Amino acid sequence: MTGFSTRPLIPVKKILTTQVRAGLPVRRRTELRLFRWRRTGAAKRTGAATSVMVSLGRRSDGWNVECDRRDVGPARRLVVVTAELVESARQLAEERLAELPRRLAHVRGVAAAAGRIRSKFDTETGDRLAAAAWLHDIGYAPSVWETGFHPLDGARFARAQGFDETVVSLVAFHTGALAEARERGISVLSAFGVVDSDVLDALTFCDLTTGPDGYGVSAAQRLDEVLQRYGPSDPVHRAVDSCRDELLAAVERVQSWA
Ligand SMILES: [Fe+2]
Repeated sequence: MTGFSTRPLIPVKKILTTQVRAGLPVRRRTELRLFRWRRTGAAKRTGAATSVMVSLGRRSDGWNVECDRRDVGPARRLVVVTAELVESARQLAEERLAELPRRLAHVRGVAAAAGRIRSKFDTETGDRLAAAAWLHDIGYAPSVWETGFHPLDGARFARAQGFDETVVSLVAFHTGALAEARERGISVLSAFGVVDSDVLDALTFCDLTTGPDGYGVSAAQRLDEVLQRYGPSDPVHRAVDSCRDELLAAVERVQSWA
């Protein structure tokens, strides 16, 4: 975040429409004109496009809602990006996985691991990694379950909750999800954007070095445990079997950062 401009970049009418869709309290036009437009800086600049985040306000559930000015308009999604991102993800995981205490213990362990390595990234990326760590297995929650393929269900859920596309894609592609999608004959992961390989490696590392009860394990032990838990005919078993070397290589890459 490098600075602010007070010059409105989006027609006020469009913001009002977007606010209504987001369930935000509608502000008066005069109030909206005082909104500050935040430039997110060089990290978000891609080619000629500069990402300019617009604060749309705080929802009743406490989330700050912002959006990229290019995303304001009909049928566009809003993006939740603030330091509260991680807390929002934590709350959702704690609530939705409460019925699955062992899974929740694992998720807490993965989030703790992400907290230990997030300093390898800039603040925003670290937030997204930590949020994805909380959300990566939320697709197992009975209230989130839809297709039965947890990375897909979790990613769709994260998107519906307003998390930005980096978090969504991390959930969609975590820990060999692509290989499992292939085993299941699922192609819809192509609907999710490519994510930075270092961040994906980091999430994979956190997941694979945390056991089912949340305690630290070696990645090799963890993969063996998964292979034992799912029979040879299960898509999870076949996927892990096919990409075991790839997963271990990702873990080693992260270990080499230290
Ligand atoms: Fe996991």
